[in-house]
Amino acid sequence: MKAIVLNQKTYKLETKHVDKPTLSHSDVLIKLKASALNHHELWSLKEKDLKSDSGIILGSDGAGIIMEVGVGVNYLKKGDEVIINPSINWGTNRKVHGSNYEILGFPRQGTFSEYISIDQQYVYHKPKHLSFQESAALPLSGLTAYRALFTRGEFQNNNKVLITGIGGGVALFVLSFAIASGAEVYVTSGSEHKISRAIELGAKGGVNYKDNDWSNQLLNKVNGFDVIIDSAAGKGFAELTKLANPGGRIALFGRTTGYIQNLDPKLIFWKQLSIHGTSMGNNEEFKKMIDLISSQKIHPVIDSVYSTQEINLAFKKIDNSEQFGKIIIDMDTFINDA
Ligand SMILES: NC(=O)c1ccc[n+]([C@@H]2O[C@H](COP(=O)([O-])OP(=O)(O)OC[C@H]3O[C@@H](n4cnc5c(N)ncnc54)[C@H](OP(=O)(O)O)[C@@H]3O)[C@@H](O)[C@H]2O)c1
Repeated sequence: MKAIVLNQKTYKLETKHVDKPTLSHSDVLIKLKASALNHHELWSLKEKDLKSDSGIILGSDGAGIIMEVGVGVNYLKKGDEVIINPSINWGTNRKVHGSNYEILGFPRQGTFSEYISIDQQYVYHKPKHLSFQESAALPLSGLTAYRALFTRGEFQNNNKVLITGIGGGVALFVLSFAIASGAEVYVTSGSEHKISRAIELGAKGGVNYKDNDWSNQLLNKVNGFDVIIDSAAGKGFAELTKLANPGGRIALFGRTTGYIQNLDPKLIFWKQLSIHGTSMGNNEEFKKMIDLISSQKIHPVIDSVYSTQEINLAFKKIDNSEQFGKIIIDMDTFINDA
């Protein structure tokens, strides 16, 4: 089969012929129709920290069609249209994943390939109202957004929600979920155009985090926020503790702008704030995320669709924060690769 393999010298992605995966007892073999990019893979490409003798095929998001099932597979069949939960070996504690936890894509083979073989427990029917490309946008970002907003952000009806960096893949899922749940949502972005697009999607307003007084601009619009969802961290994080209402929750799932600086402890204890780290999610949250998307007929925001040959270019777009929503790779374009 063809796969996009990481060149461990240049840290570029290259199409290669590799062995088709084999099927064990409870596995299904999926022909991938679409995959999606995540910042998670970009960190690996930039930090050049992955090594393996057996070749590395990244990719956490995938949607496709089941081609074969193992003898122990009981609720999926050939021809089923499915998506994959990339949260592997979460374990039995719903609060935190166990020590064998992996994100699909490394060390096990990911979704930047023609086929993937994976245990049935990670395979779910794709929402009927979504195309394969839309379905491929859901897994990693939708799951992270679901847990960040509902489980760790403890979102309740009528909460005011702030989402930072709204152009991000996860951030836009948080926006959809919060709006579908009746929240009043504000956003930040480095682009006025993206703020306008978020408002079109239902946000009440937004500010540009590149403005020095961005947090004051928000306070002029809203008294404060009950739930803040952030993945930037860095210098701006301290401002979030000023923006939080007493008793507010800040759910943090990323480190896009690096170390947090100058947090004022008094703001945290006096306002009784909760700063909750959150990462991916468990099987139950994955299922609830799909149920929410299906019941509310939510369509993920897709920035663009690239061919397999263009994947390095697609990652460049994420690196420059040029995207608004998910970037999809059309896996049917492998056919044109050498
Ligand atoms: N722990 C987990 O489970 C998990 C899961 C998914 C992602 N992550 C992490 O979360 C982060 C976002 O992931 P993603 O895949 O959604 O990324 P993404 O699609 O690449 O989006 C990143 C966004 O960061 C925003 N940003 C850049 N500088 C910012 C700043 N100074 N303040 C606020 N926002 C800023 C930009 O928003 P604008 O374009 O609007 O300016 C950009 O679109 C990454 O660090 C990623 O590694 C963690």
